[in-house]
Amino acid sequence: MSAAPLSARYRTAFVTGASTGLGLAFTEMLLGEGVEVWGTARDAARLPARPRFHAVSLELGDGPAAERSFLAAEQVAGGFDVVINNAGFGAFGDFAGTDFSVWQRQLEIMLVHTARLSHAALRGMLARRRGALVNISSLAAEYPMPFQATYNTVKSGLSALSESLMFETAGTGVIVIDFRPGDYRTDFEPSVQRPAELTDPRQQRVWAAFGRLMQSGPAPAHAAASLRRALARGRSGTVRTGRFFQAVAAPFLARLGSLALRRRIIARYFDL
Ligand SMILES: NC(=O)c1ccc[n+]([C@@H]2O[C@H](COP(=O)([O-])OP(=O)(O)OC[C@H]3O[C@@H](n4cnc5c(N)ncnc54)[C@H](OP(=O)(O)O)[C@@H]3O)[C@@H](O)[C@H]2O)c1
Repeated sequence: MSAAPLSARYRTAFVTGASTGLGLAFTEMLLGEGVEVWGTARDAARLPARPRFHAVSLELGDGPAAERSFLAAEQVAGGFDVVINNAGFGAFGDFAGTDFSVWQRQLEIMLVHTARLSHAALRGMLARRRGALVNISSLAAEYPMPFQATYNTVKSGLSALSESLMFETAGTGVIVIDFRPGDYRTDFEPSVQRPAELTDPRQQRVWAAFGRLMQSGPAPAHAAASLRRALARGRSGTVRTGRFFQAVAAPFLARLGSLALRRRIIARYFDL
């Protein structure tokens, strides 16, 4: 791994969802590396006040407005060398029993509008023949979580988008990183949208297991260190990060084992 600060390669960065959790950790890591960062939240007052940090108000629920905020920041920055599509949230419940509008909103915000920002970011990077596009996917892209159907769909789709873009950007000076964290201790679990009361015992067990996994995960700085290594390598690729079982063993089993084995692992893991 390069010992040189990331600012030797990347001057500016744009990070969505920089107010808490992984996005805040990525932001702090980049600032510590001498990179100038534009970070977003729906309410800019939730963003940190730091030297070389620029607060941007951005609501991913409105795709065209989010793109306008991105383009305005890009113009001020003179182009972004790193764009991290990180903002996101969870929704828990059975697919058929939950109003379709809940699933549709999650798909639009986390897949369609995130793809819109990837599209805008890539145009700027390709024009300048430099940059790193980082899409924050999840281990859920290969190990779907029970009762989070749309989240799994979003993250599989986002990983497929990143993998597709790796082919398109080869040889252009632009890299694409498909970043797949396992469980990390952030504000994600407390902010998951779910019914006020879960009456189905299977959902209750899965929800309890999900909470235990999230609360026992590593701190976000661990994910930021993984991302630092990937950016320092300067190559497109997929990064799996988290505790050993989730970052190494489970993906290895997914590649070598059958789909039936993978489903058994998921059921056992989530107490189903
Ligand atoms: N934590 C994990 O274990 C884990 C594992 C795999 C993948 N991930 C992914 O990592 C990313 C960050 O999650 P996290 O764990 O750091 O969660 P978090 O602590 O809840 O942070 C989520 C961030 O997203 C922003 N956000 C949420 N909804 C938004 C919207 N509609 N428009 C704009 N910004 C919005 C929030 O900003 P405001 O609320 O301040 O607006 C916040 O900064 C997500 O994409 C998540 O799916 C997390």
